[in-house]
Amino acid sequence: MKRIAVLTSGGDSPGMNAGIRAVVRTALFHKLEVYGVRRGYQGLIDDDLAPIASKTVSRIINRGGTILRTARCMDFYEPEGRAKAAETLKKHAIDGLVVIGGDGSYHGAHFLEKEHGIPCVGMPGTIDNDIGGTDYTIGYNTALNTAMTAIDQLHDTAESHERIFFVEVMGRLSGYIAMMSTIAGGADHVLTPESKSDVDGLIKELQRSRDEGNYNQIVVISEGDDAGNAYEISEYVKKNSDLKGIRVTVLGHIQRGGIPSAFDRILASRLGVHAVEALLEGKSNVMIGVKADQVVTPPLSETWDNPTSFDSSYFHIVDALLRR
Ligand code: F6P
Repeated sequence: MKRIAVLTSGGDSPGMNAGIRAVVRTALFHKLEVYGVRRGYQGLIDDDLAPIASKTVSRIINRGGTILRTARCMDFYEPEGRAKAAETLKKHAIDGLVVIGGDGSYHGAHFLEKEHGIPCVGMPGTIDNDIGGTDYTIGYNTALNTAMTAIDQLHDTAESHERIFFVEVMGRLSGYIAMMSTIAGGADHVLTPESKSDVDGLIKELQRSRDEGNYNQIVVISEGDDAGNAYEISEYVKKNSDLKGIRVTVLGHIQRGGIPSAFDRILASRLGVHAVEALLEGKSNVMIGVKADQVVTPPLSETWDNPTSFDSSYFHIVDALLRR
């Protein structure tokens, strides 16, 4: 193996730059040449890639986003798109590819390897923390801290104005950010896609707490909740109760940006070193993850076959910590 390439794909997440830096520096450490592909798989289809030097990745460990840019590339779902990408890789004599992204991106890597024999290794990059085969994904910890800080701040105004806030956090299919920011931020209730949400039960609890003198309350809602989005749920609550001072805050893409936490920088650095070394050891079609603080290399298929979810006992933690 003489030359490898790295790309970021899917939604960006804080720490992706730390991952790129780790891949580049480790490749150079092992005397490999390394190329950066712009805009994820789209860059492979468009032949948009260039060598990356060590100094290009200086001082990016602390930056959010991805210097390589990213995209959700629909063409890569088609065999024709992947054939074009493989052509680009062959043209530049690239012997292996590191893909930093989520499980959608791994489907692409899986087929690129199967159809064109190009060794591919994944690094989990998404704020959602829902990729199978790893306890943590790059960016989740930072996004969680962003959501927690927002809840802290909303507590201040909720208390001053005696308001009830419905805070919507990201996680289309995963309630990790919602659940953990509820606990870390000391919020009152959480609705996540992992369990069926009972909004009538929630109304009863909000009323009980208000009747006991708690006029400020915070409900965290994961964007993928089955009961609807924060606006829809708050409208239902307004219509079906006499609760006053209801406000909605949608955190949105704020959670995807920002300075990566120490945890995410260290995770991305560690996974990046192992990703390059896995390619050198002849591994392919695997993701580099971390389980119980040990680096693991599950097959890419495990990342979508067994998506990670938090233990259901966390719902009990939220319930036990509620003001009563
Ligand atoms: O990165 C994952 C995620 O943040 C999901 O939680 C969210 O639904 C989605 O990305 C939104 O991404 P975009 O706006 O880029 O389509």
